[in-house]
Amino acid sequence: MKYRSVDYNSIFLLINVFMLCLAVKSDLSADFYKQICPDLYKIVRKEVTNAVKNEMRMAASLLRLHFLDCFVNGCDASILLDGRNSEKFPTSNLNSARGFEVVDKVKNAVEGACSGVVSCADILALIARDSVLLSGGPSWKVLLGRRDGQVPNQRGANLAIPSQYDTLDTIISNFGNVGLNVTDVVSLSGAHTIGRARCAIFSKRLWNFSNTGGPDSTIEKTMLSDMQHVCLVNGDGNEVSALDQNSNDLFDNHYFQNLLDGKGLLRSDQILFSSDDESVSMMTRALVDSYRRNPKLFFDDVVKSMIKMGNISPLTGLSGQIRKNCRAVNS
Ligand code: HEM
Ligand SMILES: *[C@@H]1O[C@H](CO)[C@@H](O)[C@H](O)[C@H]1NC(C)=O
Ligand SMILES: *[C@@H]1O[C@H](CO)[C@@H](O)[C@H](O)[C@H]1NC(C)=O
Repeated sequence: MKYRSVDYNSIFLLINVFMLCLAVKSDLSADFYKQICPDLYKIVRKEVTNAVKNEMRMAASLLRLHFLDCFVNGCDASILLDGRNSEKFPTSNLNSARGFEVVDKVKNAVEGACSGVVSCADILALIARDSVLLSGGPSWKVLLGRRDGQVPNQRGANLAIPSQYDTLDTIISNFGNVGLNVTDVVSLSGAHTIGRARCAIFSKRLWNFSNTGGPDSTIEKTMLSDMQHVCLVNGDGNEVSALDQNSNDLFDNHYFQNLLDGKGLLRSDQILFSSDDESVSMMTRALVDSYRRNPKLFFDDVVKSMIKMGNISPLTGLSGQIRKNCRAVNS
């Protein structure tokens, strides 16, 4: 009787220690690759620097991939998978995501130094940080230890990624579904301080907004006329324009000033300031105004939100795999 109770106690203790190890192991950490891939940071930085030197916009395209990844099945690099159900071709964003060749180059360079240990999901997180930094934005410690998923989820992408014509309420609830709040919506929308969007994405705002036959009344007049010259009726939908007019390649807080001036390019940008749904817009408008006045506050908050976004349902421990080729699951 006595022996048995001692046995139970030690088994209980062992289980507890085991659970604790699992719990610790499943948390992401900044030094995850310290022993197994010490040069990881340098390798990624070098490749992203080259890519951005070659084309400045690439920083924006790469940053966006981390977002598109994390919102669908968590940050598991599912956005990178080719083939059936690929998240690269959701109905709302067909042919929109770019930068996959650069990710391949980074992955190959990493594999060359430390084969089979660094996940594509972690590579996307590092690339996103470097892209922001190389565009003049803030830096942060990237938490690592994610593993790669084995199934792309195109339907999930259609549901989870907000559309540029969604209401503010819908955008907030899309973010809420992955554990992000209103502050994160506004600070992360600030990622549109860099990059471009295609006419196909926003020209309805210029010519036939909500089937009114006219433009979106929240667009400032000179911006409207400039944009109408870029995106003609039935013109080339692939023509692009800066998301942050007059400050397109610099990661700064100018995007928020544009929103005050009615110069947000996408409807989803402008409604952060101009939505007439008072129940939520009071909060987003106040945040837009604070970030406009206080660049340091924007940088502090966007860093917090980027880390939060990078923490969305990571695969850790024994889940998932470390893909050899980011475009395909290991055979
Ligand atoms: C709030 C909801 C969001 C909506 C509705 C949205 C929508 C869009 C759209 C429609 C485009 C242009 C796509 C094209 O022209 O094909 C775009 C581009 C971009 N998005 Fe977002 N986005 C959102 C949030 C985010 C977040 C959270 C990030 C990153 C943290 C992000 C980063 C970017 C970047 C950097 C670009 C420019 C990409 C390039 O130039 O290649 N977006 N977004
Ligand atoms: C959003 O969450 C952060 C913590 O992650 C918190 O500091 C912030 O106040 C929250 N914002 C809102 C509007 O609840
Ligand atoms: C605006 O779009 C609607 C729906 O597609 C269409 O019926 C209408 O004719 C368009 N108006 C103009 C002025 O193009």
